[in-house]
Amino acid sequence: MTETLPGADAPNPLDEAAITTAVNQALEAIAATASLEDLKAVRLAHTGEKSPLSLANRQIGKLSKEDKATAGKLMGASRGRVNQALAARTVDLEAENDARILVEETVDVTAAPRRRRAGARHPLSTLQDRVCDIFVGMGWEIAEGPEVESEWFNFDALNFKPDHPAREMQDTFFVEPPEAHLVMRTHTSPVQVRSMLERDLPIYVLCPGKVFRTDELDATHTPVFHQFEGLAIDKNLSMADLLGTLEHFTRQMFGDEASVRLRPNYFPFTEPSAELDIWHPGAKGGPRWIEWGGCGMVNANVLRAAGIDPDVYSGFAFGMGIERALMFRNEVGDMRDMIEGDVRFSEHFGMEI
Ligand code: PHE
Repeated sequence: MTETLPGADAPNPLDEAAITTAVNQALEAIAATASLEDLKAVRLAHTGEKSPLSLANRQIGKLSKEDKATAGKLMGASRGRVNQALAARTVDLEAENDARILVEETVDVTAAPRRRRAGARHPLSTLQDRVCDIFVGMGWEIAEGPEVESEWFNFDALNFKPDHPAREMQDTFFVEPPEAHLVMRTHTSPVQVRSMLERDLPIYVLCPGKVFRTDELDATHTPVFHQFEGLAIDKNLSMADLLGTLEHFTRQMFGDEASVRLRPNYFPFTEPSAELDIWHPGAKGGPRWIEWGGCGMVNANVLRAAGIDPDVYSGFAFGMGIERALMFRNEVGDMRDMIEGDVRFSEHFGMEI
């Protein structure tokens, strides 16, 4: 096969008809393009190095002086027409492209957004906040302590003797290894001792939080639940101050007709100790007394364990359950509903409780 010399089949740059045909073919191809992509291919075919017009143009050098001038004019004008058509088509196609993108990417700012579920606060959190707000309103502070607690804070400092049967009152989750003497706190009372060790006197603190006991989960028991603990240490505090504080709090929670009743009881960390009942005017099935928690005057041994002189200071403490309050205050019949995490349960309590 003989090699074709470059330009061997090129149109003659003096052949006006041939050149015009090449120009017309280019113009037709340009007019037929539908996209900038098409135009790129057409540009290469009709103005690229191997296009008829470029090949013809390259022949000019071989011509005589006068022919050069004639061919130069013809080729210049011809290539000019093609380049102009390319430029004009580029402008048109770019404009078409922009218009299409504008339509395709239109955002309807008036369209309704897809609804996202906002979730809900758990009523236990809302109720706990409400309890805290009432005490903060009386000038008390909020205190917190760890959920994994040392046995000393959970029992010993609270006057539970090592072999005291009262330790068995609260079924304890012990944390391994036994020699670390750690437990999941069984009540919020260890925060009493922590507060006495950490804070300056007088002390008025409310301590909300999770507590743990080895109970089976059923309608009225759960191994993880919430309590709030109150502790006041000051000069000359008496049982009357305890009662007055609880009465005020109870009325804020359950209405003006609510009241409080104390029944003698035993806790190692309070002396005297009492069981706390509240008169719940809005109870389902009519007003009645409801058992809610424990309270008492802080035992002198507990004050001493925290380095406070019981001859100068006295204090009172109380502890109540939040799940229990949600049950009788908001008529939740089954504790399991509180821990299943179904947002529909939380939603119907709303943000206020
Ligand atoms: N900690 C006790 C309990 O969980 C309640 C309590 C708190 C009793 C404070 C007296 C004083 O049962």
